Amino acid sequence: MSGDQQNETDDKNKAVSDTNQPGQPQARMVTVSIMGKPALVPDDSTIMRAIEYSGQQIIRGAGCREGFCGACGTIYRLPGDYRIHTGLACTTLVQEGMALSQIPSVPLEKAVYDLEKLTPDVDTIKELYPVTFRCVACGTCTKACPQGLQVMDYIQSAMRGDIAELMELSYECVGCGLCALRCPSEIIQHKIAILGKRLYGRYLRKESKELDIRIQQVKNHEYDGEYAELMSLDRGALSERYYARDTE
Ligand code: SF4
Ligand code: SF4
Ligand code: FES
Repeated sequence: MSGDQQNETDDKNKAVSDTNQPGQPQARMVTVSIMGKPALVPDDSTIMRAIEYSGQQIIRGAGCREGFCGACGTIYRLPGDYRIHTGLACTTLVQEGMALSQIPSVPLEKAVYDLEKLTPDVDTIKELYPVTFRCVACGTCTKACPQGLQVMDYIQSAMRGDIAELMELSYECVGCGLCALRCPSEIIQHKIAILGKRLYGRYLRKESKELDIRIQQVKNHEYDGEYAELMSLDRGALSERYYARDTE
């Protein structure tokens, strides 16, 4: 660490001890390497918070900050561990000695298609994403997925033309691209997953009576009052309402 970096570290330590008032929990600090630069950060920080705590502004590679949008794919190594780990910067906590780099975008070539002219079967997969059939079933994509999805299994479903299973297994994909980054066959799993979801939604999903009823209610302006009330809330009240909502 250079003299400047040491001074910076000392300043940060002071800043942390300044915030440790009586009765406040003491922040413990860990040293991490953020894109090659050492930084001392609180040990309960996510990677994203650690990057910002170290004084850097994230201008690419951040979106929802809650594990939904997939914008913050990150790779890291830990001391004494040869493996490259993957995670979302907004939900992965730092660890002592972690060396990390954010991957703000994964280059890829998306297929262009007219959904109305496709069939929900293996022929479409073959035509639009022939690379799918290069899968060697190594399981690396599944290990890389921060969502814990069975990525290899959904690629196998795509290879069998089982669009319903492809949709089901990939439903919670956030599109971070970390699987694609690690795949030795250079498959772009998350784009195949999106194709599967579109095919399922367009051709295979069951009709929903409840959805039809709800759409009609919206068209009849039955929710206009609630909508207007939501629009009148300030950020704090809206946030409180959001986190208090029922979720599955
Ligand atoms: S990493 Fe690539 S080759 Fe390996 S199982 Fe996943 S899709 Fe197949
Ligand atoms: S399947 Fe791939 S793109 Fe989707 S969340 Fe998992 S690693 Fe990210
Ligand atoms: S910022 Fe959206 S998943 Fe991390």
